[in-house]
Order: sequence, then structure tokens, then C-alpha cells
Amino acid sequence: MPSQQRLVNPFKPTAGMTPPVLIGREVVIDDFMDGLDEGPGAPGRLMRITGPRGSGKTVLLTQLGDIANDRGWTVVNVSGREPLCASIQEQLAHDARIRSLDIKISLPIVSAEAHLGGAAEELLFREVLSRATRSLTNHGSGLLITVDEVQDASHDEMATIATSVQYMIREQQDIGLLFAGITTGALDLLNGEGITFLRRAKAEELASIPTDEVAQALRKTIEVSGLRIGDGALSYAAAQSHGYAYLIQLVGYYVWREGRRHAQDSVTITLADAKRGSEVALQEFGSSVLETAISGLTKPSVDYLLAMTEDEGASSTSEIAQRMGMPASSANTYRRILIERQIIESTAPGFVAFSIPFMREYLLQHRADILARYGA
Ligand SMILES: Nc1ncnc2c1ncn2[C@@H]1O[C@H](COP(=O)(O)OP(=O)(O)OP(=O)(O)O)[C@@H](O)[C@H]1O
Ligand SMILES: [Mg+2]
Repeated sequence: MPSQQRLVNPFKPTAGMTPPVLIGREVVIDDFMDGLDEGPGAPGRLMRITGPRGSGKTVLLTQLGDIANDRGWTVVNVSGREPLCASIQEQLAHDARIRSLDIKISLPIVSAEAHLGGAAEELLFREVLSRATRSLTNHGSGLLITVDEVQDASHDEMATIATSVQYMIREQQDIGLLFAGITTGALDLLNGEGITFLRRAKAEELASIPTDEVAQALRKTIEVSGLRIGDGALSYAAAQSHGYAYLIQLVGYYVWREGRRHAQDSVTITLADAKRGSEVALQEFGSSVLETAISGLTKPSVDYLLAMTEDEGASSTSEIAQRMGMPASSANTYRRILIERQIIESTAPGFVAFSIPFMREYLLQHRADILARYGA
């Protein structure tokens, strides 16, 4: 029987952390590997990964980047929350492989005085990207760029990157571009001008992962860690995760912790453990994700969200205004704030839905508490 000290919780309920078992991503990984094998212009080398918060986008980008890196590619990871082109240039300039190949990369212009203006900066970026890509290709390697949080990216910078990458593909160079973001924000970006090329990207929407795959992975992870789990407990825990990546880790983490409590007597996680652990996991999800999202909202914004809970699917914005008893134009102000905070998203003209899984259920359950904060 393992001692308590040696039992280490294997689950990773932390944003961006690679989970012990990467569940449900075989197909996209295969597509990407095929893309690397097939050569310049292969569909798997240009991908768009979308999904709600906590669905596993960052982890997937990391995984695909690791695969490319193992094949000798240079991988540059950037986020839409930073200046994209400057960051790519900066990373290329410091990349060990590029340095070892003696490729000259000029650094981006950062000081305000030296600001060259959009067109000149764009030219410089294209020059740097082309030089790096051509040299890497010549040496049997390639360049992979991953852009995370693309919903926050500057449209102009994405257009510059898209044009440069497209140019390299036409030249038959080994280059890949993967970008990931919240579904609606990412799609909005693609609807902008100058970005048509990115619309052709292979679309990978991270929908919920089938429960049986979740169960298999939970069992494997638990057994490798030194504990065991009964069938009833396993099905219960898997179902409670709703196939949603972040919850899989949270449920796994807290259910495992319940099991460890009695590991001296029995290493098998019981149904009672699974129930207690899942409850803690869901509470934790509520306080860490859902509460954080709604904290600091003004009363009308909260009213907007509560008005949305009447609908099981998307809500009509005009109906919400009616429910709130205000003109559509006033309700729109709150709609905009909530979209900006990425709590809701527009699913079609005149319709919105929650962007965070379980937000509706949470609001329904805690409605009275939430209203009480505003003295209602
Ligand atoms: N395929 C997977 N299988 C199991 N767990 C996963 C998987 N992908 C991600 N996770 C877990 O889910 C959580 C969220 O992952 P990640 O940070 O990649 O999500 P995200 O979509 O990038 O979220 P955000 O939109 O907030 O950036 C992490 O705890 C991670 O370990
Ligand atoms: Mg992420």
C-alpha cells in the first residue's frame, strides 16, 4: 500500500497546464502531423482552434508546437494580447536554431521616436519572416507560428501575418500558422478585410469530449498515480465533468483528493468520494471562474445576464430588452459591456449566448444571492 506522502495528485486544474492525459485530440493531432509530412501548403499547417474559456485551446497549441519542435521546426508562440509582429520578430532574433544557422534577424522597432509607421513596419516584418522561413526551409526545418487569444489580436497585425505566411506558402517554404481563440471573437476577426486567407484555415472547434473517453483517461490517470477507482465512481465523475476540459481536471483533482484521505485503508475511490469531490470541484469552478467573471458588474449588466437565463439556448436581444423593461438601445449598452468582458457572445445578428459553460445554471442557482448584493 503506498504511503500518503508518495501519492501526488496528478490532475492539473490550471489554465494552460498540460494535463496528465490529453483527451479527445487524436484527430487534430493526426491532421497536424499529416500537414507536417505533406509539405508546403498542406491543410494541416494552417489551423484555427476555437472554443469557450477552459476548453483546452492553449494546451492544444502547446502540444502541436511540441510536435513541430520535435521534428526540428522553430516554434514561435505569441498571444493576441501582445504586439504580435514585434513579439514574433523578437523571438526569432533570440531563437537558438536561427542563431546557430547565422540568420540575421533585425529586432523590431520599439521606441516611440523610431516609429516608422504601419507600412514600413510591415515591410520589415515581412522581410524578417521571409528570411527566417527561407533559411529554415533550406536547412530541412520549418517555422511554426502559434497565435493564442486571437480574439484580442489587432486586426491589422493579423492581416500582416496572414499576408506574410501566404506569401511564404506560395514560395513553397515550410511554414505553419495555428491560431486559437474564443469562438465568436475569432470568427469576427476572420470577417475583417485583408484576412480572407485565414478563413481557409482548417477549423477545429473544441466541443465537449465524449464521456467514455473522459472515463478512460480518468481511470488511467488515477491508476498511474497509485490509486484505484470503482466503476460507479468513475462513471459519476466522468459525467460530472460534462466533457469540458477544465472541469475534467477540477473533478479529477478533487475526487482524487477524497480517495487519498483513506488511502492507508483502501486505495479505491468510492462513489461517495466521487460525489463529494465533484461537488467541491463544481463549487470551485463557480467561485474561480463564474464569480470572477461577474464580479464588479453594475446592476443593469447583472440584470441583463439574469434576463438571459430564461432561455435555454441563445437569447433574442430585443426580448431581453423587453424583459428588462428598457428600450433596446439602452439594453445594447449592457450587451456590449458583457461581450467585451467575454461573458456573453453574439451568436447571430440580434442573438446572444453565454460564452462560459455553466454560467446559466450558476446564475439560476444563485440568483437571490447575487441580487442581494445590489440590495434587491
Ligand atoms: N484535451 C484535454 N484533456 C484533458 N484536460 C485538458 C485538455 N485540454 C486542456 N485540459 C485542461 O483544461 C484546462 C484548461 O485548458 P486551457 O488553458 O488550454 O484552456 P483554454 O481553452 O486555453 O482556456 P482560456 O480560453 O481561458 O485561455 C487546464 O486545466 C488543462 O489542463
Ligand atoms: Mg488559453
